[in-house]
Amino acid sequence: MNFEIKALDLTAAAAEKCDLLVVLVPKDFKPGKDPVSQLIGGALKSGDLETGVGKCLSLYRPSQAAAVRVVLASAGEGKARQVKNALNAALGLGKSASLKRLVLCFAGAASADAVRAAVLAVADGTYVYTTSKSKPQPRTLQKTMIAVPKLADVKAEFDRAVAVVAGMELAKEWANRPANLATPTDLAGAAQALAKHPKISCTVLGPREVAKLGMGSFMAVAQGSDQPLRFIVLRYEGAAKSKAPAVIVGKGITFDSGGISIKPAPEMDEMKFDMCGAASVLGTFKTLSLLKPAINVVGLIPSCENLINGKAVKPGDVVTSMSGQTIEILNTDAEGRLILCDALTYAERFKPTAVVDIATLTGACVIALGAVRTGMFSDHDDLAQALASAGDRAQDLCWRMPLDEDYAEGLKTNFADVANVAGRAAGAVTAAKFLQRFAEKFPWAHLDIAGSAWKSGAHKGATGRPVGLLVEYLLGPAQAK
Ligand code: BES
Ligand code: MN
Ligand code: ZN
Repeated sequence: MNFEIKALDLTAAAAEKCDLLVVLVPKDFKPGKDPVSQLIGGALKSGDLETGVGKCLSLYRPSQAAAVRVVLASAGEGKARQVKNALNAALGLGKSASLKRLVLCFAGAASADAVRAAVLAVADGTYVYTTSKSKPQPRTLQKTMIAVPKLADVKAEFDRAVAVVAGMELAKEWANRPANLATPTDLAGAAQALAKHPKISCTVLGPREVAKLGMGSFMAVAQGSDQPLRFIVLRYEGAAKSKAPAVIVGKGITFDSGGISIKPAPEMDEMKFDMCGAASVLGTFKTLSLLKPAINVVGLIPSCENLINGKAVKPGDVVTSMSGQTIEILNTDAEGRLILCDALTYAERFKPTAVVDIATLTGACVIALGAVRTGMFSDHDDLAQALASAGDRAQDLCWRMPLDEDYAEGLKTNFADVANVAGRAAGAVTAAKFLQRFAEKFPWAHLDIAGSAWKSGAHKGATGRPVGLLVEYLLGPAQAK
């Protein structure tokens, strides 16, 4: 999909030929003398356009515009969330099989936040997954033009948002694919495809190399499946080699049956999404390839299936992680932490400024925070703050969770250095406490995206989160020019 931004007033925006013109109307709209704002003014005065966010009035070939359809959408004070809701409503009304060209304009000020929200909402509202359909009906929308009163304040944010959309859509694509079409080997192929970009390189390790590194914990999860594991190392080098990188680590379980501690059948299909952390790493690299910032980033993806065969790891088995710590695997369904801990140890070699792991780690996090905020855990206040504000800026929210040492009590065992599960209480926190043991050598944060990475029900599908948050964290605030 193609986005374009232009400085146009209402009259000029309405003169653009398109299938749909969406006009975002602020609560305090003051009509000028031009025909479009007269039209809006009249609609507001008569009450045909209500001022509640998401209230819309749709028109067919009005004389004031060159568009086939026009939707006036109330957008409150034009805050990001209001723009998103207004656009969701407007697109719901105005979308049709023939929507190829969309023009979106602001009948008032357009903040950088509002423009970002608009780009993300249009992309999300028109996204379609097609890969495993026999008669694909792809997104019809080809071009979206955003008309703003003034370009300078919003251009940098717009460019970033467009690149984030590309990253989110790559993440969605891989996450939505069924597990038989998104194996660890396929994910490694996707990473290698990203390495076509001059600033990106990729190395893929297989079972032999991983054994040599001593990743006994990762290998224990992979041993129950016929699909060979992959350990994917992506590097983005936009700055001098001497500059320490940030490392992002994505959980890449391409299917989580639970292993011998098998999951119940209902909704087990959703465990194809257990590689959403990995997908967010791929998506972030896609965005980096478009924005080409002067930073260094390493992406690590431990990837395998969590299945059951005669060789599968059993409850009570003790394995030795790459760190040397032994782990008693009391529950084979707590496999995410088992593959991540070895990836965290591997991250030490990059002498990173920070390591952020991203994982669909616990059902408990879904219970705690639902689909709204990602669970964020960090023992490093500056890093936690940076991630929280990156999430706010990106409208890809997270919430800091505790890591008190008392939460680690339940991980004690008589048979190894640590157990891979504690009780049911505070399950998202005890999972993070397990990971923390492997992240002592660098500033570390863990993002539990079990609730935020995909939607269930009729709209089942990946959200592309937290690509926006990660990009925002890695790049820092966009600079207006
Ligand atoms: N991939 C799951 C977490 C998950 C469950 C995400 C449901 C989204 C929805 C993870 O591997 C898992 O199975 N975690 C267990 C941990 C438990 C055994 C301590 C869980 O959350 O039940
Ligand atoms: Mn599991
Ligand atoms: Zn899992």
